[in-house]
Amino acid sequence: MQSIIDISANAQQYINLEEKYGAHNYHPLPVVLNKGEGVFVWDVDGKRYYDFLSGYSAVNQGHCHPKIIAALIEQAQKLTLTSRAFHSDLLGQYEKYVTAYFGYDKVLPMNTGVEAVETALKLARRWGYAIKSITENAAKIIVVEDNFHGRTSTVISFSTDPASYKNFGPYMPGFITIPYNDLPALEAALQDKNVAGFLFEPIQGEAGVVVPDQGYLTGIRSLCTEYNVLMMADEIQTGLSRTGKMLACDHENVHPDILILGKALSGGAVPVSAVLCSDEIMLTIKPGEHGSTYGGNPLACAVAIASLQVLKDEKLTENAEAMGELLRSELKKLNSPFIETVRGRGLLNAIVIKHKNPDAAWDLCLTLKENGLLAKPTHGDKIRFAPPLIITKEQIMECVGIIGKSLESLKD
Ligand SMILES: Cc1ncc(COP(=O)(O)O)c(C=O)c1O
Repeated sequence: MQSIIDISANAQQYINLEEKYGAHNYHPLPVVLNKGEGVFVWDVDGKRYYDFLSGYSAVNQGHCHPKIIAALIEQAQKLTLTSRAFHSDLLGQYEKYVTAYFGYDKVLPMNTGVEAVETALKLARRWGYAIKSITENAAKIIVVEDNFHGRTSTVISFSTDPASYKNFGPYMPGFITIPYNDLPALEAALQDKNVAGFLFEPIQGEAGVVVPDQGYLTGIRSLCTEYNVLMMADEIQTGLSRTGKMLACDHENVHPDILILGKALSGGAVPVSAVLCSDEIMLTIKPGEHGSTYGGNPLACAVAIASLQVLKDEKLTENAEAMGELLRSELKKLNSPFIETVRGRGLLNAIVIKHKNPDAAWDLCLTLKENGLLAKPTHGDKIRFAPPLIITKEQIMECVGIIGKSLESLKD
């Protein structure tokens, strides 16, 4: 098929600016956006698209949700940052709200997702020394193959994707890698008495929406309890209604010891992340031992409360579950020879493309763009379909129509 790259001169000038003055650490689809509302975004030429990426699941509540933006504006006009050198009237309110919401004793607020992962790793190590009595500097964390937890030096040290780690060494020691969805491998690794935690994604997002077998989460919970190791769930992408439950761990009703959240905690407005756990774990970190200038700032607190409230008020968990079922069944009905697999939970879905052209997934995304839907390939042949959770049945049907029509073009 012909690659479709139809970029207006207007759009091209913005792309050129990024190309010339920005780092080349991303390979975006050639579309330049300047407006978002609900499930839609618009490009600089006024063309409207369905957003099937949702800022990598940060925009679960839909673009520029009026209640989130109202909370942002109201707080921005009062107080945006105190640093943690002083108290604010919102931090405690937010901490009470978020801990009650997820059923934890305490929260540690950060900004980006990877900072929350880093915080969780530090907490697990600290708990390992202070409570589990692991010898100093000997603590280990078990992780899985094809994980994605962000981009810092520590986190890429245990990535198995060369694009993430190659030539960024030396690497942080103290990690044991096992296969995903493999409870016997987990139990074998847990024989090491120095293990403090097991870090995993309940569904692997960046790896291409890899859904583990039923029973995996329950198995992790019971093994971690049996071996006195912290179950650390990275729900940065899977959490906050995305998979048709408030947390992906809720699919098996398990409560991780450390819960890591980010992305949709602000509905895409500002970077807000959080680590939640018990007093026993959280209080192993004392004043001055961890922090962030912006972590827990009043603006973030106001936005996070509004973002969490919207998930419940608008029943986005239930909608994600129902619309996800519809999307997957309609995609399967397309019976396209180019779709090898349709998989996912709730509105975190992916299709795996089967085509002789190795660039077919990218080409398909270009055609989807032409036809008014934005999606991005992950790991070559997989395309994630993760629209905002406010999407309606009629919109899903229209989008399946766009996807079906676009798949047709792969025949050329
Ligand atoms: C599961 C998971 N963890 C961590 C991160 C990193 O979050 P951030 O990009 O906000 O640092 C991501 C981002 O995609 C993610 O999907």
